[in-house]
Amino acid sequence: MKLDVFTLFPEAFDWFRGQRPVRKAIEAGAEFNTRDFRDWTPLKGGRVDDTPYGGGAGMVLRVDVVDAALEGVFGDGDRPRTIVLSPAGRLLDEPLVSELVQEPAIALLCGRYEGFDQRVHDHLADDEVSIGRYVLAGGELPAMVLADALMRRMPGALGDPASAIEESYSEALDGLPEYPHYTKPPEYRGWGVPDVLVSGDHGKVRQWRRQQSEARGDSPEGHRRD
Ligand code: ADE
Repeated sequence: MKLDVFTLFPEAFDWFRGQRPVRKAIEAGAEFNTRDFRDWTPLKGGRVDDTPYGGGAGMVLRVDVVDAALEGVFGDGDRPRTIVLSPAGRLLDEPLVSELVQEPAIALLCGRYEGFDQRVHDHLADDEVSIGRYVLAGGELPAMVLADALMRRMPGALGDPASAIEESYSEALDGLPEYPHYTKPPEYRGWGVPDVLVSGDHGKVRQWRRQQSEARGDSPEGHRRD
């Protein structure tokens, strides 16, 4: 897959690009590019935004700037599936990741300030994706979240591909959260490890893990220490 992330802050992705699964996916043929809107803007002085029609606070990223950036990178031929990161978008979950990972190429648009001119959503983007119902200062962190979820699914990204098979929300677990893991020491400060895991009975271990996944699936608020 080829990922192109359009942003005003390409340097925000330097850390992400250096992460092992991302490096491995890139070595195995995936592409991860950042594109700076300012490199393509047709406006003077690297301008990319303007004040909102109708008044109000903040600045809005311009549709002509976004279109120029997409055209500069992809030409006037086919554009990849283009996704705006937006708090109001479709909530990101594993089924959506599984759908998107089938795409040969994806463009991610990261907004800042008051976001994009609505015509970006209506005419340039195919989808809007949200990483949760809260508002962040920009689309860079959400784009990294989505890119991470995609890149780790690419061939070569994970040291042991088996670790991606039975993980939370995978098909192997029927979409349930993953079961708990334990490792040495077998006892720490009086906190033990479930006997079944050290019993050597693989059938019982499988059964226990399944029960644990189901119990976690029944409490979608996640774990609380009480
Ligand atoms: N931009 C700002 N907040 C966001 C969120 N929660 N999800 C996606 N994009 C965003």
